[in-house]
Formats: sequence, structure tokens, C-alpha cells
Amino acid sequence: MKKFENDLILRVLRGSESERTPVWLMRQAGRYLPEYRAIRAKYDFLTMCKTPELASEVTIQPVDIIGVDAAIIFSDILVVPEAMGMKLLVEEGRGGPRLLDPLRTSSDIGRVHVAQADDDLSYVGQAIKLTVKRLNGRVPLIGFSGAPWTLMAYMVEGRGGDFARARALLYEEPGLAHRLLRMITDSVIGYLKMQCSAGVDIIQIFDTWAGVLSEEQYEEFSFVYIKEIVDNLKAYAPVIVFPKGMNRLLREISHCGADAVSVDWTVPIDVAGFEIPQVVQGNLDPAVLFASKDAILQHANRILSAAPRGRHIFNLGHGVMPGTPVENVKALIEFVRDFHH
Ligand code: CP3
Repeated sequence: MKKFENDLILRVLRGSESERTPVWLMRQAGRYLPEYRAIRAKYDFLTMCKTPELASEVTIQPVDIIGVDAAIIFSDILVVPEAMGMKLLVEEGRGGPRLLDPLRTSSDIGRVHVAQADDDLSYVGQAIKLTVKRLNGRVPLIGFSGAPWTLMAYMVEGRGGDFARARALLYEEPGLAHRLLRMITDSVIGYLKMQCSAGVDIIQIFDTWAGVLSEEQYEEFSFVYIKEIVDNLKAYAPVIVFPKGMNRLLREISHCGADAVSVDWTVPIDVAGFEIPQVVQGNLDPAVLFASKDAILQHANRILSAAPRGRHIFNLGHGVMPGTPVENVKALIEFVRDFHH
């Protein structure tokens, strides 16, 4: 087994002793950091993802600058649809990334294929290998993928929003949706296995758009595929699942067998800890980082005090937002690291 200077997060995920609550933040590498913006000013986003030196540099920035207990490999969930054959555009100030020629019909689905991670996504493996080498055992490295439903939502819609077309497809042509979800799931399993062989220590599955589905749809079009991914990955690394907006089903979701479930800020952390027998991750509202330092520490304290002891990883309820004051993020991390029950 690999040796780390700081293996707190892995110990919590394994259920062993930990002296304090580990902390990392979704989107901890990003535009709120001036050091990120300095590199981003010179390269476009996808070039950064596809250049291992740049991806590994921005992956390690938050470890150096804000002192988190884990790194997360710099990439995006939408590189999987790209590897499956779609064209991905990440443009400045255009309301987020876009997938061109979204998939709407059965013949559209003929345009995509199961991603071959070793070829189509080899740059992610290279970025992971270089990052593991550069981290040199300081903290564990998290790999990730979008959940099949969240990826399908972008592939059908073409962009973020309310995903009305993707939802319509679930009603109109459930068989077609399942064919697409099958291809995405196979792509994701291969991709995450490749990330594990390249050296990630933990996997997180982002189901950011779980919350737009009804409970029945979530079960049929999201949960079953997530469970299949967890079943296939568990032997390689601990798995964290983030079903954003599906707090009504936390107990059912915990049955997917993941080692941890990450929750958004709309559920009290003690309720999440009651519903989920595994480790619970979360759940500070990223918006609180725009409030006063007092408010930030008060809410961090509330979460740390109410979370299930020994099975909590501190995080936000969603990603750090652009424009978040860096000093607030630093104050938060310092507070969490100094907190003792
Ligand atoms: O967390 C990290 O620090 C690792 C890197 C990471 C990014 N995207 C970098 C990124 C991760 C884990 C993601 C996941 C991701 N991407 C999700 C799931 C998690 C979530 O936040 O809900 C989703 C839905 C996406 C799709 C995506 N990519 C959106 C909606 C956007 C635009 C919004 C934004 O913040 O700009 C992106 C672009 C993106 N992904 C950026 C970064 C740092 C900003 C790109 C830039 O520098 O211009």
C-alpha cells in the first residue's frame, strides 16, 4: 500500500481512526484562485486539461495554497462525451461548456461509441501519473467521472439548463435512453479503471443533475447505472457518490454500496448521517463563502458539530464559485483543520 504524509481522508473512508475531520472542496482548482487565472490567461480550458504538465500544476495548487487534505485531478466531466465522439466547446463567458450536435434520435446515437479510455482519454492517465509523482505522497489524489444520467443530460441537451429535452427523451423513448446510458456506463467504467491504474486513490462520481428527475426516474435511469459502476470499481479504490438534489432518497442511494455519499447544502448533515450508514461528505453552501468570516466559521462549526463523528469528510454542498474570495476559502480550511470534537 502507498504511504502518505497525510492519509486522513483514506483512513476515514476505510473506517479507521482519524484525529480530525478531513477536508477538500469540489472545484478547489479553479477561477477563484489568482494562480489558476494566471495559467488560464495563457491557455484555453481544454488545452489545460489535455496538457499533463498544466493539469498537474493546477491540481496541486490548492494543496499548496489552501492546505486541503486531498487533490482532485484537473479535468471535466464532459471529456467523456468528447471521447465518445461528440465535439466539446468550452468558451469564455458563453454560459458554460457546450456539446455540438446534441443527440436526439436513434440515428444521432449512432454517432457515438463507447470511449476507449487508453486511447481517447490517455491524456487524463498521463496527467494522473505526473500528479502522483509530483505530489510525492503528500496527500491522496481523487479521480472522477460524471454519472451516466448527468452525462446523458448534457449529451441530449447540448448545454446546461433545465434539461427539458433530456427529460422528454426519458418519457418518449426510454429504450433509446437506456441504449445511450449503456454506452456511457461502459465508457465510465473503463475510464475510471484507467484512472485507478494510473494512480488515483479515491473515485468520485458526480451526479450533478440527479435532482431534475422524479424518484422513479432516478431509480430507473440513474441509480442502477451508478450501482453498476460502484460494483465494478470498489475493488480498485474507495468510491464517493454525489447525487445532488436527491436528498429524499439518501437511504436508498446508500445501497449502491459506495464508501461515501456527498450531500448538497439543502439537507441537515445530521439527517444525512442518519440516512446514510457510510461516510457522509459535505455540505457547506458554497454561497456562504461570499458572506462574512463570522458567518462562514459559524456555519462550518455547525456542520462539524452535527456531522457523524469519525465518518465525515468536510466539503461544500457543490463547487467553489468563481469570484469567491480566496482569503475566505483559506479561513474555512484553517478552521476545519483546527476543529477538534
Ligand atoms: O473540482 C476540481 O477542482 C476538479 C476539476 C473539475 C472541473 N469540472 C473543472 C472545471 C471537476 C471535478 C469538474 C466537474 C464538472 N464539470 C461537473 C460536476 C460537478 C459540478 O460542479 O456540478 C459539471 C456539471 C461540469 C460541467 C462544467 N464544466 C460546467 C457547468 C462548467 C462551467 C461552469 C464554470 O464553473 O465555468 C465547466 C467548466 C469548468 N470545469 C471550469 C473548471 C475549472 C471553468 C473553466 C474555465 O476556467 O473557464
